Amino acid sequence: MSKIRRFSIGNPINTEAVVQKVPIEKGELPYFERIQQMELKSDGDAQETMVQRDELWYRMGQEDRIYGLGENVRGINKRGWIYESNCSDDPNHTEEKRSLYGAHNFFVVNGAQTFGMFIDYPGKLVLDMGYERMDEIRIMPQDWNLDLYILEGDTVLDIVKGFRKLIGRSYIPPKWAFGFGQSRWGYQTKEDIRTVVRGYRKNQIPLDMVYLDIDYMEEFKDFTVNQQRFPDFPAFVEEMKREHIHLVPIIDAGVKIEEGYDVYEEGVKEGYFCKDQSGKEFVGAVWPGKVHFPDVLNREARKWFGRNYKSLLDQGIEGFWNDMNEPAIFYSEQNLEGVVKKLKSMKCQNMDMWEIFEFRDQVNELANNPEDYQSFYHNMEGKSIRHDKVHNLYGFGMTRAAGEAFEELEPDKRILIFSRSSYIGMHRYGGIWMGDNKSWWSHLLLNLKMLPSLNMCGFLYTGADLGGFGADTTEDLLLRWMALGIFTPLMRNHAALGTREQECYQFTRKEAFRNLIGVRYGLTPYLYSEYMKAALRDEMMFLPLAFVYPEDEYAKDVEDQLLVGESIMIAPVYTQNARGRYVYLPEPMKLVRLASMEQIQTEVLEQGHYYIETPLEEVVFFIRPEKIVPYTQPGQYLEETEEKELKLLHFVTKSAEYELYQDDGYSKDYENPAHVKKLHVKAE
Ligand code: GLC
Repeated sequence: MSKIRRFSIGNPINTEAVVQKVPIEKGELPYFERIQQMELKSDGDAQETMVQRDELWYRMGQEDRIYGLGENVRGINKRGWIYESNCSDDPNHTEEKRSLYGAHNFFVVNGAQTFGMFIDYPGKLVLDMGYERMDEIRIMPQDWNLDLYILEGDTVLDIVKGFRKLIGRSYIPPKWAFGFGQSRWGYQTKEDIRTVVRGYRKNQIPLDMVYLDIDYMEEFKDFTVNQQRFPDFPAFVEEMKREHIHLVPIIDAGVKIEEGYDVYEEGVKEGYFCKDQSGKEFVGAVWPGKVHFPDVLNREARKWFGRNYKSLLDQGIEGFWNDMNEPAIFYSEQNLEGVVKKLKSMKCQNMDMWEIFEFRDQVNELANNPEDYQSFYHNMEGKSIRHDKVHNLYGFGMTRAAGEAFEELEPDKRILIFSRSSYIGMHRYGGIWMGDNKSWWSHLLLNLKMLPSLNMCGFLYTGADLGGFGADTTEDLLLRWMALGIFTPLMRNHAALGTREQECYQFTRKEAFRNLIGVRYGLTPYLYSEYMKAALRDEMMFLPLAFVYPEDEYAKDVEDQLLVGESIMIAPVYTQNARGRYVYLPEPMKLVRLASMEQIQTEVLEQGHYYIETPLEEVVFFIRPEKIVPYTQPGQYLEETEEKELKLLHFVTKSAEYELYQDDGYSKDYENPAHVKKLHVKAE
């Protein structure tokens, strides 16, 4: 059981992250002290002044670990770095970064004292988790208008469950979204898409989705389809459905400024775009050039933006991905003017080191510039609020616009939606993908580490761009990444324009890809059940070993293995040229080695440390004692998989029971008890 207390400071903005009403406590905030520090601030021109900085301060025990913070760089244990909740469009997810695309201000301190904390604050928030001083936590918002929730419970899992109840049930996608999807920025035409589908079907590599990136649109205009490249789009969507392929188009945050474009014209007429200080529509630029940003924090504007998804739903589309919704700004009209002027003044000069640095900075600082985020406004419940105060809510607002519209337009059907930017609360409306990673081995591991932190914050439908988005992938990296990706609810291979083509059929080991993805399809009875139970019971699907074996000193430090649902432990290989890897078993487990769903070898191993050989072509996982894994033979797409007979893998020495969740995958009567079937195994 968990206990939740709420403390309110100043005049917090209602973010709607939380769904349970928790009365405000009048007493002192426990665990933390609010202290004042003097800090030296430089204004860049060698002028230094002492300023006062307020912060919440906590002294950690030596053994304390910190879990949570959702989408972020670094470890499962977040101790030892400084993070900033400040949704950022930054494709370089390197260790020194402080922010990625999401703002997920929930963490659990586990050690001398164990408690959880959620800082419901939509502006930029600095979370120093032992960076300035190794044993201190410092929390620094931009202003002191925030709601703080302190959560207590018997275990970390109790605290997380309490938090998940507080923020409401996680989004549930249609079942087909558990299939495998192929994506690439650069598929230009119908024929490109057909080639991808043919490539998979011909090689009998299962596939359920092809994603449409910005190229399907007419000049990057939201909710339009390019009629030259995709003539008779509804017929094409139908053609793909006959092949059992769902097309999933992208929607961007910025709306192109263009006379005659209905979304633009309506938005201006109704006043639904964000305004600058003078009350005119703010002008930023993204893919189409100059755009306005829909004010998705305004109820009416959100409704309007959401209703626009209808035009694609009407053409047969059943899923979307929302992008560039930090929102990303390549430049603003006002900023560009100043920079061009400055650069012109530097023309033909003999630039020294400082000047060339300045020249570069001028250009580099055009994108996602903090000044731009301070120069437009939202209309929230009749109040004008400067964007930077609520910056982290924008992606949430955009995806909520879609989610609320789907409820209205398709009340009885699940629609796939996931977003790049997010705030806690958005997890009720859609999933997220982990943004623009790179084809790096370190990002395979980062993908694994983010899964439990995201689950803690309610994001269950998630996954990374398998193979890596930026940079050129290699066949072995893609295979190893797939071997992790087959367990993530969102399983998508996606790559950037200009990078090596990385559809699975482009490589020589086609059989290995067929079998690996086949294992995903074969395991969907288990993976779907675990997802649905996690969503309906406010639980995590991906767990660090530390949460399940809290007394085990070795398990606490494991940062490269996870439990997937109640029965499985995974230990993916994430180094190049490795024959296998070391794995820690906190209890006896059954090793399962699959070359395909038809070639399964098992071996019981005692608790302890092992070197587990893992050829590129195999999937290895472990079954916990007295646990069951239902599976089936894969088809070429999910629906076909479902027709196959259900079988059981298990590690049972006495007896075990498993709750299998099965429904039609489309409708929303999630809680219907008829969906849960109990499976039993008794040892012979
Ligand atoms: C952004 C997205 C990426 C997409 C690209 C083009 O970088 O994160 O997934 O391919 O935009 O739309």
